[in-house]
Amino acid sequence: MKILMVCLGNICRSPLAEGVMQHLSDEHNLGWQVDSAGTGNWHVGEAPDRRSIRAARNHGIDISKQVCRQFRRADFEYFDHIFVMDRNNLSDVLNMARNDDQAAKVKLLLGDKVVPDPYYDDSQFEPVFELIEGGCKDIIAKLREV
Ligand code: 4NP
Repeated sequence: MKILMVCLGNICRSPLAEGVMQHLSDEHNLGWQVDSAGTGNWHVGEAPDRRSIRAARNHGIDISKQVCRQFRRADFEYFDHIFVMDRNNLSDVLNMARNDDQAAKVKLLLGDKVVPDPYYDDSQFEPVFELIEGGCKDIIAKLREV
């Protein structure tokens, strides 16, 4: 299974989602490949935000080696599932889909809720980590059923 996590900057939320999902996949020996990308290009080439690195490290996950990249159309071909954090990400990614099969791969990570952008509020990184962790666990449970 190949999974892509997408947010706006690819420095706060989707790096956490990549780290958590890869960690859970490894823990359960699922062999899943997980990556992340941003719809925007401002931070391409950078490491994740240090507040996300810290939040992940507090839960035993190292995301410091990740490198920010921008979402691209080829991702629709390569990945089986594309999980986005909020409704802006959802419309931005869906607008790049070429057909219904590509669009069908794209879903909100939390199903019907959004992962809020913590960029302007240091206190939100831990709650965002927990939201993401819950979403990843739900996705693993669902995808292992099928
Ligand atoms: P992210 O947060 O989408 O969770 O990575 C953001 C990081 C940076 C910016 C916006 C959101 N920015 O505008 O630079």
